[in-house]
Amino acid sequence: MFSPLQVGPMSIEQRTWVPAMVPWRSNDLGEVTDDVLNWYRRFAEGKPGVIVVEATGIRDVPSGPLLRIGDDRYIEGLKKLADTVREASGGKTRLLIQLIDFLTIRKRPDREKFLSRFLTISPLHRQRLEMLSASEAEIRNSMLGLDDEALQKILSPKEWEDLTCGYRERVADTHIEDIANLPNTLPNLFSEAALRAQKAGFDGVELHYAHAYTMASFLSATNSRIDGYGGDIQARLRLPLKVFNSVKQAVRADFVVGCRFLSDEIIDGGSRLEDAVFFATEFARAGMDFLSLSRGGKFDDAKQPRVGSTSYPYTGPSGYECMPGYISDAQGPFGRNIDPVAMIRNALREQGFNTPCVVAGGLYSFYQAEDVLQAEQADIIGFARQALADPDWFEKVRSGFGAEVRVCQYSNYCEGLDQKHKQVTCELWDRERLQEEGVDLSIDGRRRLVAPSWSGGHSL
Ligand SMILES: Cc1cc2nc3c(=O)[nH]c(=O)nc-3n(C[C@H](O)[C@H](O)[C@H](O)COP(=O)(O)O)c2cc1C
Ligand code: SF4
Repeated sequence: MFSPLQVGPMSIEQRTWVPAMVPWRSNDLGEVTDDVLNWYRRFAEGKPGVIVVEATGIRDVPSGPLLRIGDDRYIEGLKKLADTVREASGGKTRLLIQLIDFLTIRKRPDREKFLSRFLTISPLHRQRLEMLSASEAEIRNSMLGLDDEALQKILSPKEWEDLTCGYRERVADTHIEDIANLPNTLPNLFSEAALRAQKAGFDGVELHYAHAYTMASFLSATNSRIDGYGGDIQARLRLPLKVFNSVKQAVRADFVVGCRFLSDEIIDGGSRLEDAVFFATEFARAGMDFLSLSRGGKFDDAKQPRVGSTSYPYTGPSGYECMPGYISDAQGPFGRNIDPVAMIRNALREQGFNTPCVVAGGLYSFYQAEDVLQAEQADIIGFARQALADPDWFEKVRSGFGAEVRVCQYSNYCEGLDQKHKQVTCELWDRERLQEEGVDLSIDGRRRLVAPSWSGGHSL
């Protein structure tokens, strides 16, 4: 684990990786704030091989407190972030940024407001209600008086979903011009964002092709577009490859470009391991510098949100596989992605591709991780929540102080905060040493925003 590896043009000092995690430290303008700098400085102090900065929006549109890279005005702040990580890690940690595009999703509406205002009344509603010549107000009134079972028979399946889960766009909604146009707009949006990351001094980018977002939806077996970018597996791969090629052409040859995608979507009708093997092979053939594998995390099987909340793609069975918690089956939350990643990696090696593969999901201990590397099941180990629980994991283990590691409990307290878009912290340290000088607290004043510093383990 603590030996170097070549990842495309980038040499990494150790085979450890902190995968992207959104900590909600930006502001409504999507800028790099002091809290963002402090957050990544703390990870960099542990000197992992690679840190991937959280999913960062590539469009110049308001996106709540999500970090953004959709305009040149973001370069200056991102440069500060790259400098901070380089300095805090003593130049030992390489820095990537995850580039994300996502489609519109809205909060689950209040039933009355939806029926009396948001819903567009159609001839189908009139027909089903047998109220062909009634006024719009009469139609709405009539619907308001129905119980759920009767109402479901009047609304289309999409309208029923809009009412019960909140409106959500899909890549196959090609009646919406912007969605029909994605194959033309996304390659530029991604490559311009990558160029900004390069100008800011990052070592590379990770294209976010995983979970519930636009690019993963193109890869998904549920993608039913009929314009050559959906349906069969070759067509589903077309835009992700086009985006990659556009990014690769825009950046310098020594700038790393890879992607994160799913070893399995874990949803009915979704892409499975054999699809992932095919995608991996084609990504490697196209020249991607690394492949980072995640699992699940889809809207399709998410729990129904409460009125006023948006659907969260980590609440159903696919969400469980993405961020497995301690309430589990016999395997527990540990290493559930190892076997699929090993199969993907094997398939690549059999075809002569040496592309490094990153595995993540329930990995927390040196021995568990070292076994994966020794058995050649993956090339790099991703520690997301374990690094959140203890950003010094890497230095502690490397320098012989592994017994001092604060071990992740897989409680998913951090995930609960993420779901509410609250500043993410870990319950194992966020109430510790609050009185210390210079400790920054969360908006509610009750939690520290970064892990306390490690005073032990004098340098070896
Ligand atoms: C708070 C939080 C935020 C996350 N944000 C992202 C993200 O921005 N992009 C991403 O690809 N995965 C994200 N993930 C998923 C993690 O990168 C990782 O795949 C997952 O937690 C499983 O790995 P682990 O068991 O090592 O935590 C997030 C996870 C957590 C806990
Ligand atoms: S809050 Fe729980 S799951 Fe999250 S990092 Fe801490 S111990 Fe692990």
